[in-house]
Amino acid sequence: MASNSAIESIREKLDIVDVVKDYVPALRRAGRNYKAPCPFHNEKTPSFTVSPDKQIFYCFGCNEGGDVFTFVMKIEGLTFPEAARKLAQKAGLAWEDRHFTGLSAADREILEIKKALAAACEFYKKFLFSSGGEKARLYLGARKINKATVEAFGLGYAPANDNAMTQELLGKGFSKDLLARAGLSGLRDSDGSPYDYFRGRIMFPIRTQTGAVTAFGGRILDSGEPKYLNSPETPVFSKRKTLYGLDRALAGIRKSGRLLLLEGYMDVISAHQHGVDFAVAPLGTALTLEHASFIKRHAKDTIIMFDPDAAGIKASVRAAEIFMEAGLYSRIAELDKGLDPDEYLNENGPEAFAQKIADAADPLDFRMNLFFKNRAAVSSQDKARAIDALLETVSKQGDEILKSEWVKNIAARFEVSEVSVLQQLKKKSGEPGKERKSEEASVPLSMPALELGFIQLLLKNTELTVCAEGLEESDLSHPLTRRIFSEIKNLEPLNRARAAAALIEKLPEEAALIMKLSVADIASDLDPAQNAAKTVKMLKKISHERRRKELNKNYSTLTPSQLEELKQLTELRGKTGE
Ligand code: CTP
Ligand code: MN
Repeated sequence: MASNSAIESIREKLDIVDVVKDYVPALRRAGRNYKAPCPFHNEKTPSFTVSPDKQIFYCFGCNEGGDVFTFVMKIEGLTFPEAARKLAQKAGLAWEDRHFTGLSAADREILEIKKALAAACEFYKKFLFSSGGEKARLYLGARKINKATVEAFGLGYAPANDNAMTQELLGKGFSKDLLARAGLSGLRDSDGSPYDYFRGRIMFPIRTQTGAVTAFGGRILDSGEPKYLNSPETPVFSKRKTLYGLDRALAGIRKSGRLLLLEGYMDVISAHQHGVDFAVAPLGTALTLEHASFIKRHAKDTIIMFDPDAAGIKASVRAAEIFMEAGLYSRIAELDKGLDPDEYLNENGPEAFAQKIADAADPLDFRMNLFFKNRAAVSSQDKARAIDALLETVSKQGDEILKSEWVKNIAARFEVSEVSVLQQLKKKSGEPGKERKSEEASVPLSMPALELGFIQLLLKNTELTVCAEGLEESDLSHPLTRRIFSEIKNLEPLNRARAAAALIEKLPEEAALIMKLSVADIASDLDPAQNAAKTVKMLKKISHERRRKELNKNYSTLTPSQLEELKQLTELRGKTGE
């Protein structure tokens, strides 16, 4: 947590609309709010909403939402302190890390680790251009990587000796334990002495989308195993969530709506050097669902281009299936002559490469082409087996229209009846473990509309909380509306103005609901105060009625005071004329 006043001054100086506009230029006024296609998921009709009154954003499509800090954290992949620093800068406020009074130990460590990684990156860069880096420079030259590219990607070289990098960073004040936590140094079992994790390797810094170094990949210079070594998993690095080259590619991906998925470091670097600025790669792992759902938010057209060997082909199909599971359509590009993307670009140039991207095939066509390639005659058995394998891919397709297209295509290409393909597909979908994951849990709809409407009214006009003085939490029937109501009543005055954002901090699991209510329009002609007064009355009445029924039901066991309560409730009922 940062000191409140520093955070408050940022809030005062910045309008969330201006901040969001920097990232979402398409943001347009729509009534009291602003709207745009959501930057966090792929959509055509805008459901991403920014409320200048509440200083929050919310997407009705993907349920992302929060205040200006959350927005910057999410869109840039930053920690809270990093987002605060960035926003302070934008607000023209001086910001120092000491503004964070009670930063959590974990956040503090993350900041330290990132600093150490940045320092190591500088060290490797410097070493590449020193006399000790000559061999590495020659190697990069032989691989046709020019100096501008080396600089753009921040490539470096790790000396072959035992612990030169570690020594330098210890000298800068980082502890050996921190260097070990950062995945930069190993500690010897014998005496705990540190050594460099990467030695004698060309260093590829791995960065977040905004360019912060979170890990390294290192390619051996001489022969040796493994050819590529990655940083271990650390508090700032998760291989399954990281895409190499994203910091260089994100602008190109956003601009073109396209993403080219390659296999390795050298492929990505080579692509960018040749002007293909929308290329990224997973880090020596298969594509994960985490990758796919990130990509889905940024690219409409995703092209998979792996090495043209058996492993690459298998991985392409698998990747296409992962994209399908994430609800994203992808295509598979194929290179010939056994060249990987890096080699292909260097031999054939960017135009031929662009043509390969343009020719990328639908995943199912890709698999069918594979089957018919170099096959003169096809036996019925071969057909049956091939169709069965293809239906694996088809069954993963969530889009029903595409699915039926695919069934048609298989039938046509294999010269069998569509009905038989469909039947086979049904059998497959019936197999256990094949059912699709259920949709994300949605807001509990059983919440009484009146209570929900009341909460919404309060969220939009916190000053109306005074109207609700007579209303108790127990007057509301749903546990969730009760909780939110109680939190609203207990808001500190300072937080009244930013009720939605403050509540989200208190009730993070209910964030989606809170924001949805705060930005959605209220369907009422009454002015808010009248509306609130009327709603409180109705809620009170419903609550009395609920209580009266409950007491009546247990009439035989009521205590004297409960009997008295029942009597009063019944009289009250008579008075209001019902
Ligand atoms: N890889 C890895 N570990 C290995 C080999 C490969 O993690 N021992 C990963 C790396 O991310 C690498 C990618 O798989 O970038 C592709 O491997 P490969 O095709 O062998 O690498 P190239 O990019 O062709 O590397 P180079 O051209 O430098 O030989
Ligand atoms: Mn290669």
